[in-house]
Amino acid sequence: MEAASDQRRSVNGDGKGGAKALLRVITCGSVDDGKSTLIGRLLYDSKLLFDDQLAALERDSRKHGSAGDEIDFALLLDGLDAEREQGITIDVAYRFFTTPIRKIIVADAPGHVQYTRNMATGASNADLAVILVDARKGILTQTRRHSFIASLLGIRHVVLAVNKIDLVGHSQEVFDEIVADYRAFARELQFDTMQAIPISARFGAMVTSRTEALAWYVGPALLDYLEAVEVEPGLQQRPFRFPVQWVNRPDLDFRGFSGTIADGQIAVGDAVVACLSGRKSTIRKISTFDGDKTRAARGEAVTLVLDDEIDISRGDLLSGADGRPDVADQFAAHIIWMHEEALLPGRPLLLKCASKTVLASVTEIKHRIDADNFQKLAAKQLALNDIAVANISTHEPLAFDPYAVNRTTGSFILIDRMTNQTVGAGMIDFALRRATNINWQAVDINKRQRMRAKGHRPAVLWFTGLSGAGKSTIANLVEQRLFALGCHTYLLDGDNLRHGVNRNLGFTTADRVENIRRAAEIAKLFVDAGLIVLASFISPFRAERQLAREILEPGEFIEIFVDAPLAVAEQRDPKGLYKSARAGAIRNFTGIDSPYEPPQTPEIHLNADGQTETVDAMADRIVAYLRGGGFLK
Ligand code: ADX
Repeated sequence: MEAASDQRRSVNGDGKGGAKALLRVITCGSVDDGKSTLIGRLLYDSKLLFDDQLAALERDSRKHGSAGDEIDFALLLDGLDAEREQGITIDVAYRFFTTPIRKIIVADAPGHVQYTRNMATGASNADLAVILVDARKGILTQTRRHSFIASLLGIRHVVLAVNKIDLVGHSQEVFDEIVADYRAFARELQFDTMQAIPISARFGAMVTSRTEALAWYVGPALLDYLEAVEVEPGLQQRPFRFPVQWVNRPDLDFRGFSGTIADGQIAVGDAVVACLSGRKSTIRKISTFDGDKTRAARGEAVTLVLDDEIDISRGDLLSGADGRPDVADQFAAHIIWMHEEALLPGRPLLLKCASKTVLASVTEIKHRIDADNFQKLAAKQLALNDIAVANISTHEPLAFDPYAVNRTTGSFILIDRMTNQTVGAGMIDFALRRATNINWQAVDINKRQRMRAKGHRPAVLWFTGLSGAGKSTIANLVEQRLFALGCHTYLLDGDNLRHGVNRNLGFTTADRVENIRRAAEIAKLFVDAGLIVLASFISPFRAERQLAREILEPGEFIEIFVDAPLAVAEQRDPKGLYKSARAGAIRNFTGIDSPYEPPQTPEIHLNADGQTETVDAMADRIVAYLRGGGFLK
C-alpha cells in the first residue's frame, strides 16, 4: 500500500478558515451498513490521512480488524477502545476535510434505535444526510426513522447510498428496486433533492472513483456529488438575525453587543431592532477579532455598536427593521425527548433558544409521532426518544422564527432545572395566536388596595408532606387562629379540590403535576384577592412546589414541610389508605410506590413524628412566623 502523505489534499483540523463553501453532512445507517467504513474510505481515498494515521490503521486492522489482511476502514473512525471491542459506534463524531472545491464536515451518527438523541445532535445543522442502506437488506425500519429525523431537523437534501452493491453482483435491478422503495415513503418527507448512488465502501467503488462493474450507473460518485451539490440559498434575501451572547462594556464610552450572526448580513448604517422591546437604532460599528468591518454576514462572530443607548441584554435578538421575528410566549413545536424520566405537561423546564433562556412548560402534547411509520399517536407524556408535536408556553415572551425559516432562532433545547441536564430538543412550528390575542385585563381594585382594606398581607402557607403526616389538621388549627385574629383566610385542601376542579385527575405522576399546577394557580388568585391561603397538598415533587413559589411574588410563598416518617404516617393511616396500598388495592400511593421529594429549604420545618411537638405548638410557630414576617397587623 502506498503512503498518501505527498498527495494529501489537506486536512483541516477545525473545519474553519478559507473562503471555500462548507458542506455539513450527517451519515446515518445501522451498525453494519458500513457507515464507518464509508467515512474511512472517503478520508483514505481522498488522500487525507497522515502517515502516522495510516500506520496506526494498518496495525489496528491486523489486531482488531474484521477485513482479513486488508485495511478495515471502520477502525479509523472508532476512536474509542470500548467501541472497538463492541464493534459499535456510540457517540456523534465529527470529521473535517477539505477538497480543492469544498470543506466538508461529516457527522457520524450511530444507528441504534435508542440513539435518536445522538442523531438529532449530529443533524441539527447538517445540510445533507447520507442515508446508508445495505443492498442485501434494502430499506429497513431504521432507514425510515433516520430519514424522518433528518427531515424533521430541516435537512432538505439526501443521498441514498446503496452500499455493498458488490455483494448483490453489482445488480442494477436490486438498486432500482431499493430506490423505488425509498422514493415511495420519502415523498412524505419533502426533501428538495434525493440522489441515489450504488457504492461499495469496502472496495471504494463509487465513493471517490468509478468502476467498470457499475458502468450502468451514470450518475456521480459520492465525493464528486458532495463537492457539487447546491444546498445554500443566497444570504442577501435572508433577514438579519443576531442573538446577543453578551453585552461588552470595557469602559463607559464603549458598549457593544457580542455574538455570532445567525442569519443574513448587516452593514454599518443599517437600521436594527431589539426584537423583545421593539426599540430601534442603527449600526455605528462592526468590530471583529481582526479589526473593524463595514459589513458582516452569517456565521461571523462580531461586536455591534449602535448609535443609540437602547436597553439590550444578553439573550435579546437583534433583527433588521424589516423582516422581524415572531415575539410570543406560546408556540407549537416538534420536540424530541431525550431523558429517561418522562416529559410531563405542566412541569416547568428551562428552554434555551439561541442565546435566551426562559422558564417554560409543555402545556399540551398534541400527538406523538411514530418515527418508524410516521403515524400520529395519542400521548399524555413522552418517554426517551419520543418525538411529538406539542404546545409550549414560556413565562416571558421569546423572539424566534419558525424552524423552517431559521434553524438557529427556530430551535431550542429543554433543560432540567434541578440537574441542568439537556432533556429535550425542539423545533418551533409557529407562534400560537392566542398568545397575541389575549391581553391582560387591567382592573382598578388591586392586591395592594385589598391588602390595606383587610389590614394584613396576603400569603400562601403551603403545607407539603406524606398522606397522614398531619397537614390538614395543622392547617385547620392555623386557620382557626388566623380567623380569630380577624384575618381573611381560605383553606385549599387536596382531597376537597379533587371533588371539584380537579375531579378529572388521578394519582399518576402526570396527573399530580397538573393537580399542583392548578392548585398553585388557584392559590395565586386567592392571594390576589388579599387572602392568607392555606394550601394542603401532598405535592410530592419539588418542581411543582417551585413553580408555585415562582408564580407568586417574592416572600408570598411560605413552604411548610410537615415532616412525618413514613412509618408514623402509615401507623396513623387515618383513612385506611396505606393498608389498601400495601394490599395492592391502590396504585401510585405516595411513599409506597410513588416518590416523595422532601423540601430542601422550607421556610418552616415541622417535626410531625407525634413526639417532638404538639400540633398546637406547631400551629403557634406558624402564626409566629407570619407575625415576625410582618404579615399580620
Ligand atoms: S397530590 O400528590 O396530587 O398532591 P393531593 O394532596 O391532591 O395529592 O391528594 C392526596 C389525597 O388523596 C391523600 O390525602 C389521600 O387521601 C388521597 N389519595 C387517594 N389515592 C392516593 C394515592 N394514590 N396517593 C396519595 N394520596 C391518595
